[in-house]
Amino acid sequence: MDAYTVSAEFYDVLQGRDERERAERLFASPARRARSGIVEVGAGSGLVTQVLARAATVPVHAIEPNPAMRALLMSRLAAAPTEHRARVTVHPERVQELWPRQDVPQADLAVCSNVIATLDPGQRHGTWAALARLVGPQGLLLVDPPPCALPEAPRTKVLPQVPVGDDTYSGFLSETPETDHIHLEYTYQVHRDGELLREEREEFDLWPVAGEELRQELADAGWVVCRPSPAAPGRGELLTARVAEHL
Ligand SMILES: C[S@@+](CC[C@H](N)C(=O)[O-])C[C@H]1O[C@@H](n2cnc3c(N)ncnc32)[C@H](O)[C@@H]1O
Repeated sequence: MDAYTVSAEFYDVLQGRDERERAERLFASPARRARSGIVEVGAGSGLVTQVLARAATVPVHAIEPNPAMRALLMSRLAAAPTEHRARVTVHPERVQELWPRQDVPQADLAVCSNVIATLDPGQRHGTWAALARLVGPQGLLLVDPPPCALPEAPRTKVLPQVPVGDDTYSGFLSETPETDHIHLEYTYQVHRDGELLREEREEFDLWPVAGEELRQELADAGWVVCRPSPAAPGRGELLTARVAEHL
């Protein structure tokens, strides 16, 4: 089964509120400063796309290859004000397939939210290379960095409980360290009057990368990391990089 086929139904209801607030805080102001265009990798259900479209005055290229997530994105765009929708072009390819196509104009801001950790090392390297070309000289890259190491032991996180009509949506996430990646299992539950009505599961992998290795692979693709500085890495901070002048 394709990834996100199960999670698409639960994504916004269980993660939407926190993600919307985070997207506003992290991406609205850089989007306002963009001067030629914005590329968003892995737009998903469009929580970040909506913030970008509202804040920006330039075109937004939302890249989303997964049909289930793209359906949520299109639904969000359909409900958006016309002037915001007019700004967003949706690309159904992977970012690595988008460049070197000639019909995507150069942007000056690239945004990767909750996506880089889900890419295996080969896909991640391809993403840095494609973005360095989709974003012009001195263009800015904003990424939430993947975990820098495997967890020491399996752990479980509880997802929020959200009432929808007569039902309560909830779930939990199990994270298990494997040799070179973290195996995630999402369990989603729907309860009515305290009884479990449905339970659904979906599995994903996350690929950790140590900070120095991440800097090196970005440099190999033509990026110069501006933040966090190696001397003072900030917890939860976005990684910020610019395309090197000579690329
Ligand atoms: C966890 S979701 C994050 C969605 C959204 N950015 C957010 O923060 O809510 C990751 C998304 O990245 C997309 N994705 C995975 N590989 C990709 C690739 N190579 N190019 C573009 N998008 C990709 C997936 O289809 C998925 O919708």
